[in-house]
This record gives sequence, structure tokens and C-alpha cells, in this order.
Amino acid sequence: MKFFVDTADIKDIKELNDLGLLDGVTTNPSLILKSGRNIIEVTKEICSIVEGPVSSEVTATEYEQIMKEAAVISKIADNICIKLPLTLDGLKACKALTSEGHKTNVTLCFSANQALLAAKAGATFISPFVGRLDDIAFDGMDLIREIRQIYDNYGFETEILAASIRTVNHVKEAALIGADVVTVPPATLKALVKHPLTDKGLEQFLADWSKTGQTIA
Ligand code: G3P
Repeated sequence: MKFFVDTADIKDIKELNDLGLLDGVTTNPSLILKSGRNIIEVTKEICSIVEGPVSSEVTATEYEQIMKEAAVISKIADNICIKLPLTLDGLKACKALTSEGHKTNVTLCFSANQALLAAKAGATFISPFVGRLDDIAFDGMDLIREIRQIYDNYGFETEILAASIRTVNHVKEAALIGADVVTVPPATLKALVKHPLTDKGLEQFLADWSKTGQTIA
């Protein structure tokens, strides 16, 4: 399973990348707003830090304008993945851009049928939003399960990128179902390592070790 981080915060991206944990980055207009940076400048910087795909989202809603924005975004770096809305215009752009050899991420997916359309349009990634479905009392993981089955039924190569991940349990469930990628906020990604018995066990080992009076290096 690939780990992407869902942020445009350079400090967090550098830290996670240095740990060797990052396979890519996803951004969206809200995350760009939060960064306080210019979209082109911050995306270029992210692309220079991380080797894997960096999703950058168009903000146009009509095909012609989406294609104009995609042309600008695609020139930022070789590892850019163009993020497109799950609308008819977005799907049309997806088909055109993937045919031209660009990586694409179709976002704001809330149903299995939408995911089926994205795969038909040749999307590199489909981004089903788990947390936002949970927010309205649906089970976001049911959607991941349905998409996994549909893609496997037909051998679609579009990768399932579980998005709007809010908890460590979301990551585990997405992994159990077989999502190809999770995009996770930095704090949740770091929280995956936490277990009280690990902390307690380490404390005990260190206390016993100091009693031996030995050093290793
Ligand atoms: O990048 C899109 C997605 O991950 C948004 O998450 O928490 O705003 O629903 P959230």
C-alpha cells in the first residue's frame, strides 16, 4: 500500500519524506489556502522534495478552461498528477489528459458509479472521500469495498486512493480492503506508529539496560 500525505505544508512533507515513508503527496485548493503560498510555487517545491506523484488540483469547472489550467499545472514538474473534479467536464479532461500521457487523479468521489466512470476515463487514481461520507452517517469504507470489487471484476488499472482519511483505523480498514493508496494528514500518518505497550516496553528495556552498565557503540 502506498502512503501519500494530504497537505501542502513543506515542513511536514520534508519530515515525512526524510523518514522514508512517503510515496506521494496530495493537495487541494483548501490545503493551498491553509499553506498561505502561491499554488505554483509551493507545488514546485513539493515536487522537488518528493519523488512520487504530487496531485495538484484544477479549479476550473468547464472543459476548455480545465485543459488550460492542466497545461499550466503539468509543466510544474515531471511528477505532477493533475487532479480533476468528478464531473462530466472533469472526466472528459481526464480522458484527454491520460491519452496525452499525464497522470490524473479524479477527486470528490462519493459513489461506486462515479468511480466506474473515472476508470472508464482512464484515471490514474480515483479519490473516494471516506471521512466526508462518515460525516453524513454513511460508512465511507463501504465505498472503498465496492470500488475494489468493481475494479477487480473488470481489471481496471485505476488505483484506489482512499482520501478524506481522518483516523488511524481508516488507514487499517483501507489496507484490509485493499485500497492501493491512502492519503493521510501528517498527524494521522505519524500516529500510526503509536502504541502504549511499545512505549511501556521500551521504557522497561532502557531501564534494565542502564543497570547492565554496558554500551553498544
Ligand atoms: O484531499 C482531499 C481529502 O483528503 C480531503 O479530506 O478531511 O477535507 O475531508 P477532508
